[in-house]
Amino acid sequence: MVKKVAILANGGDVSGFNAVIRAIVKTAEKNNVECYGFIDGYRGLLENNYIKLSTTGNASGILHKGGSIIGSSLNANVFNYKVEENGKIVYKDLSEKCIQNVKEDKFDCIFTLGGDSTQKSARDFSVRGLNVIGVPKTIDNDVACTDITFGYNTAVTVATEALDRLHTTAETHNRIMVLEVMGRNAGWIALESSIAGGADVALIPEIPYDIDVVANAIKARQKLGKNFSVVVVGEGATPKGGSVVVKDVREGGAGVINTQLGGVGDVVAKELEKRTGLIARNTTLGYMQRGGTPTAYDRVLSTKYGAKAMELALEGKFGKLVVIKNGKLDSVDLEDVVGNNKNIGAVAAGTADSNAKLVTMDDDLVKTALDIGICLGK
Ligand code: F6P
Repeated sequence: MVKKVAILANGGDVSGFNAVIRAIVKTAEKNNVECYGFIDGYRGLLENNYIKLSTTGNASGILHKGGSIIGSSLNANVFNYKVEENGKIVYKDLSEKCIQNVKEDKFDCIFTLGGDSTQKSARDFSVRGLNVIGVPKTIDNDVACTDITFGYNTAVTVATEALDRLHTTAETHNRIMVLEVMGRNAGWIALESSIAGGADVALIPEIPYDIDVVANAIKARQKLGKNFSVVVVGEGATPKGGSVVVKDVREGGAGVINTQLGGVGDVVAKELEKRTGLIARNTTLGYMQRGGTPTAYDRVLSTKYGAKAMELALEGKFGKLVVIKNGKLDSVDLEDVVGNNKNIGAVAAGTADSNAKLVTMDDDLVKTALDIGICLGK
């Protein structure tokens, strides 16, 4: 019997965290289950720092609010956790302490709201005997085994609105307007927003781009009397034979994800200016994509995910990730979500080991983009 559960939110903020929390708490209360929230994700689990959640108190009026009422931690891999020992930084497996905390305080299930690194740790806890249920979050939409993650639709919507605005300047001043969007090594945001926002070019990490091909596409538009172009660039896009543009490397790249991508939009703008003679300007959309109120779509998706996660707990189905599979609400084993990345503690999103869901060439979005003449850089 599930009597007491806790939620943790982990990784970068997205719109929809609070909607998931609210749905879990509502479904829990309806079934006489007490619900708690660990503060700042896995860090709260480690420090045993949690609060009671209730629909008549802190979990009320939060559906439309960005951020997370229980915080969220970045780079908190408790299986490889940064600690200072004798003045030296070392990385240690502190997961056993988390397991003890959960057992001592008698939590029957922990809900892990997060992206692929978060779900990797969730799976590792599940292997070590904790009852865990994951909920897939990230603006990048790169969690394996689900059609969509919460937060993604809001990010695409924000990028689309930005493209509408950039179109104005592009058209008025006969310019190339570049928009650099997030997504890490996945091109979902770039590709989907480029279709929604009517972009002429979309450069995604999955397709290394040839800048001459892009320049030629823009020149072909000029020949047709279109003296402006709108270009979307995913932050992880790379030129053919080149490498990703890194803005910063934190802590020497140790820990979870310590490489901050950024800057490819400026590179692309400069190269296109040289090749086309048109003025090109880059806008980096950045954290606008992650914050603020969720779209209606994300509110509904987050609510479905939260309610389903609590339902699974009531049914005693643990070690699962709630997903949308072929449009239907469902669940899969966390084992399948991590794929071959089975070593406990080995969490490294964006590496060959991670099981991130990238854009494949047979995806409808790729086909549609090509059909309507969006240049994908090759
Ligand atoms: O994974 C979500 C995301 O917003 C990525 O799209 C982006 O590369 C990254 O997080 C930025 O994270 P940080 O704020 O930690 O640099």
